[in-house]
Amino acid sequence: MIKPSQLCQGNSPERQTLDDPLRHLTACHRRIEERLDTLERVTPHWQSRRDEALAAVRNAFRFFDTNGVWHTEDEERSIFPRMRHGLSEDEQAYVGELERQHDVAEAAYENLRAIVGKLNEAPTGEWVAEYDAAAKTLARLYRDHIASEDSRLVEIGARILNATELETISAEMKRRRGLA
Ligand SMILES: [Fe+2]
Ligand SMILES: [Fe+2]
Repeated sequence: MIKPSQLCQGNSPERQTLDDPLRHLTACHRRIEERLDTLERVTPHWQSRRDEALAAVRNAFRFFDTNGVWHTEDEERSIFPRMRHGLSEDEQAYVGELERQHDVAEAAYENLRAIVGKLNEAPTGEWVAEYDAAAKTLARLYRDHIASEDSRLVEIGARILNATELETISAEMKRRRGLA
């Protein structure tokens, strides 16, 4: 059973955003940014507080493996396809670029997971440097992507998506999270 706190709507005001898909997207972005901050913040602590750092990173990974996946599916399966009919040529290229960025971020995430997966009892300086570089790469990619979606994607969606489409998207988002 998935607890509400594990979802992209940890408290009730954000839970309500599931009825408003574009607002929900930006609410999820804030939660993703919090996890990116965690991934970067642990770096100086790997050698002195290894277990705490690992617990924090595993928590962040759990978020990306559930909410992060749902969030990408919300965009790629529910939102992007329904916007296509109203997109200009420029905007079509933009949405295509967002999908490409999802793949790039996913590869950066897998790389970070693989690095954490080979962590030994006592992290070496070399390992910490490798972790740091991978965490920074993922955070930079994702933050840039999110900033772009917060401004341009949300604006395009608000222009194109009608009330029926938004309702359908909202229902799909809830089903994805086992809430409907
Ligand atoms: Fe995205
Ligand atoms: Fe997004």
